[in-house]
Amino acid sequence: MADRTYTHLLFLLLHLLPAFAHKSRANLTVYSSDTVPKVTPDSVENEENYTAPYFPLLGFKQYPGNPILGPNPRANWESAYLYNPAAIVIDDKISTIGIAWSTDGYNFTRYTQPVLQPTAPFEAHGVEDPRIVRVNDTFYMTYTGYDGTVARLAMATSTDLFNWEKHGPILPNCTDVNYRWDLPINAYAAREGWSKSGAIVAEKINGVYQMQWGDNWLMSANSTDLIHWNYTRNDLPFAQKLNVWEQALMESGPPPVKTRDGMWLKIYNGVALGPGGYETASYNTGQMLLDMENASRGPPIARLETPLLQPTSVEEVQGQVDQVVFSEGLVEFRGKWLLYFGQGDQYLGVATTDVQP
Ligand SMILES: *[C@@H]1O[C@H](CO)[C@@H](O)[C@H](O)[C@H]1NC(C)=O
Ligand SMILES: *[C@@H]1O[C@H](CO)[C@@H](O)[C@H](O)[C@H]1NC(C)=O
Ligand SMILES: *[C@@H]1O[C@H](CO)[C@@H](O)[C@H](O)[C@H]1NC(C)=O
Ligand SMILES: *[C@@H]1O[C@H](CO)[C@@H](O)[C@H](O)[C@H]1NC(C)=O
Ligand SMILES: *[C@@H]1O[C@H](CO)[C@@H](O)[C@H](O)[C@H]1NC(C)=O
Ligand SMILES: *[C@@H]1O[C@H](CO)[C@@H](O)[C@H](O)[C@H]1NC(C)=O
Ligand SMILES: *[C@@H]1O[C@H](CO)[C@@H](O)[C@H](O)[C@H]1NC(C)=O
Ligand SMILES: *[C@@H]1O[C@H](CO)[C@@H](O)[C@H](O)[C@H]1NC(C)=O
Repeated sequence: MADRTYTHLLFLLLHLLPAFAHKSRANLTVYSSDTVPKVTPDSVENEENYTAPYFPLLGFKQYPGNPILGPNPRANWESAYLYNPAAIVIDDKISTIGIAWSTDGYNFTRYTQPVLQPTAPFEAHGVEDPRIVRVNDTFYMTYTGYDGTVARLAMATSTDLFNWEKHGPILPNCTDVNYRWDLPINAYAAREGWSKSGAIVAEKINGVYQMQWGDNWLMSANSTDLIHWNYTRNDLPFAQKLNVWEQALMESGPPPVKTRDGMWLKIYNGVALGPGGYETASYNTGQMLLDMENASRGPPIARLETPLLQPTSVEEVQGQVDQVVFSEGLVEFRGKWLLYFGQGDQYLGVATTDVQP
């Protein structure tokens, strides 16, 4: 067998907006590249000596060098358009999905081109919010296509992270809900056809793959091939709203990670109503434990009462949107757990904790 050198790189799929009204607060150096690292079906996942976590995975501390990625300080409206020329015609606020890679988890090189751009009418106002799993050497990316009225969860697949095949919306006949801030007591309005934020459990359990999705309640759907998904309207949510800081919204974070004892650790995001010491409408990050073997459609079997991460830094408290930390990536890399999150819908930060003994 030929010698094979595994160069482990950490990839981030980024949701980029070409225009930022805010002035950049930090002077972030932007490294970019016109050429890309090679990823093939033979590329292996996880470093040698990967150690599965157990619940709860605690001690996340914000990296002192945050934010690690931000809007390109050299990019103005025009130079931003260069990244995404096909999108200019439709709307100047169209988002795309880009990619960046790193050898240390903190210092990233960005690919100069987006890897996923709007092409279908349902994506006319942008593609956003990527989450990724790898199953049988194929990358499965759930993302949201937005047409200006309805957000729809869609699927794209790739074997190299750079060339993606789109499979269209995956939950065409669903109803999501929206919190009614204008009503005094917890009340939700139906949103016909609206779906977002699919976090896939990347292992077939009892014959099916499961996904928790939803842009307010966590709902479950299942699939045998990861492309076609089953969902029943009016099913009970996967997780009830329990904690005070998640009453206005719950939304999946990264895909769940399998624990040492065969359960799944799920990081998710919640929005607070105001009481309990959490800022009104603030986004916080929490953690729950799932038993996919015996409770694949919920409920979670444990949940942290307090958030893992709350908005604290200036980027998080006064962002493009205020009071936001939104976690969407979790990996073990170079002996640490790295949790990537958006700060104020403008920057990207990372929090780290030790691998458990
Ligand atoms: C960014 O760089 C400018 C010019 O070098 C400097 O005046 C400013 O203080 C820097 N800002 C930060 C947040 O470091
Ligand atoms: C993995 O663990 C083995 C045994 O402890 C050790 O020899 C090896 O150097 C480790 N590899 C890495 C990449 O840390
Ligand atoms: C970050 O990565 C770039 C490109 O690989 C490199 O030139 C630079 O020295 C790195 N910076 C730090 C602080 O590691
Ligand atoms: C979509 O949902 C409606 C309302 O529940 C139902 O009547 C219809 O059969 C569903 N269509 C499909 C294709 O599942
Ligand atoms: C939907 O669920 C049923 C029952 O679990 C399963 O037999 C079927 O294959 C699923 N359909 C898809 C598209 O995964
Ligand atoms: C992955 O491979 C396993 C084992 O062959 C198979 O059961 C499963 O259906 C495959 N999953 C997908 C999404 O192709
Ligand atoms: C898959 O989803 C369908 C439709 O919601 C549901 O009827 C079925 O029980 C689910 N199967 C599993 C194994 O979760
Ligand atoms: C599911 O329940 C069975 C029977 O109680 C148990 O043996 C198994 O360990 C459970 N699965 C998980 C992941 O806890």
